[in-house]
Amino acid sequence: MSNKQVPQHEIENQKKYMNIIKEHNNSKKYYYIDTMGCKLNENDSEKLEGMLSYMGYEKTEDVSIANIAVFNTCCIRENAESKVFGKVGSLKRYKNNGLIIAIGGCMPQQEHIVEKIKKSYNFVDILFGTHTLYKFPELLYNALLGKKVNDIIDIEGQIAEGLPIRHNDKHRANITIMYGCNNFCSYCIVPYVRGRERSRKMDDILSEVSILAQNGCREITLLGQNVNSYGNDLEDEKSTFANLLYELNKIEGIEVIKFISPHPKDFTHDVIKAIKDCEKVHKIIHLPLQSGSTNILKAMNRKYTKEQYLKLVKDINNEIPEATFTTDIIVGFPGETDEDFEDTLDVVEKVSFEQVYMFIYSRRIGTVADKMENQIPEDIKAKRFDRLKKLADSIVEKKSKEYIGTVQNILVEGKSKNNEEMLTGRTSTGKIVIFKGYEELIGKRVDILITESHAWYLVGDIQK
Ligand code: 5AD
Ligand code: SF4
Repeated sequence: MSNKQVPQHEIENQKKYMNIIKEHNNSKKYYYIDTMGCKLNENDSEKLEGMLSYMGYEKTEDVSIANIAVFNTCCIRENAESKVFGKVGSLKRYKNNGLIIAIGGCMPQQEHIVEKIKKSYNFVDILFGTHTLYKFPELLYNALLGKKVNDIIDIEGQIAEGLPIRHNDKHRANITIMYGCNNFCSYCIVPYVRGRERSRKMDDILSEVSILAQNGCREITLLGQNVNSYGNDLEDEKSTFANLLYELNKIEGIEVIKFISPHPKDFTHDVIKAIKDCEKVHKIIHLPLQSGSTNILKAMNRKYTKEQYLKLVKDINNEIPEATFTTDIIVGFPGETDEDFEDTLDVVEKVSFEQVYMFIYSRRIGTVADKMENQIPEDIKAKRFDRLKKLADSIVEKKSKEYIGTVQNILVEGKSKNNEEMLTGRTSTGKIVIFKGYEELIGKRVDILITESHAWYLVGDIQK
């Protein structure tokens, strides 16, 4: 067994705690969970929910009736952190009812945050890190005995297999394939809070997906901070991201395979070929750019230039003409000049992204960029953000119009949030489509003739 894996006896130990709590929970008990941040956190929350359900807790959206409130936190930008403190503070009044409050995820992986919580939010019962999530039953057991507990061991994380998981969507599931990141982009806190790259064993991933498929799952999203370096840390040479795609593509029942996020520097030809060969693999590729300026990319430690990024897009399009791209961009990185920013706009125009996720640079304690002297004033960051948004929106709008009159084969995801009579799904390029239809179609594939385009969604009719 790999030493990166939590030993089985430790998992059994946690199951023991779960069983003890389950036996004691003879009246109705509720949990409330608030998940912030990325899909990796969402997936971690599904594990927390799996454990809580196993222990006999039911989910509630109403925190005033909850017995336990869990905050699964994110620290990628400052505003994500400030929100948590506000929310946790407002729960103090429920402590008299015996509410147990737990804070987990990325925030407690930072020492200064743990100190702040202990000092100013000492009514919090449980603190745990991303690495110690699997120990949640033991921590809860101790908290139920009235002990304040935290377990945020500052070691490299391990991989815990075999704990319960509660998938909140029958037809679509997130699958974490690797944890952590080795890249140390100079702005990013992730490598400090999620540790070094650890890949799950291919067999574990394949058996999880096969079981999901047997239970009706049709679409999977593979998750990792850097999915295309999957397997680099495994001894078995066959465990590569490309091979994983080929193997997953064979699983009966699975119809759509997506992944986030790959790193441009690791986008090898075998990955491009696998995306091309595997008909289930989504052809919309999220390819984080971060900046279009070679100088800024260097300061960011991204390990590619503007030209190399553009060449990669071209290479992918040469092999897969229908491939389109979405991206992440940070505006206002230290030292970013007007000229650097123009380079970013230039790449956005050239690639013509389906969607741009834009972020204003946020200083993160402990990162290299936080110590850089040439920080950009907030008003300049805001102006650049607006310019980028205008450009990206105009491209999205133009591209949306091109769908009118085309027929799109889509997986029906569910009812539209805004209109009960309408169903929604996505094109293979990730655009939301809304159309009239019956609930029975959820989880099935349908052909939709697109009749209208709006900035963020398309409208269409089912083709008989
Ligand atoms: N400030 C702003 N955005 C950031 N991201 C990561 N770190 C920061 C930061 N310090 C963005 C990157 C990454 C996305 C998930 O969050 O664009 O791809
Ligand atoms: Fe952060 Fe860079 Fe790792 Fe992504 S690849 S998690 S941006 S350090």
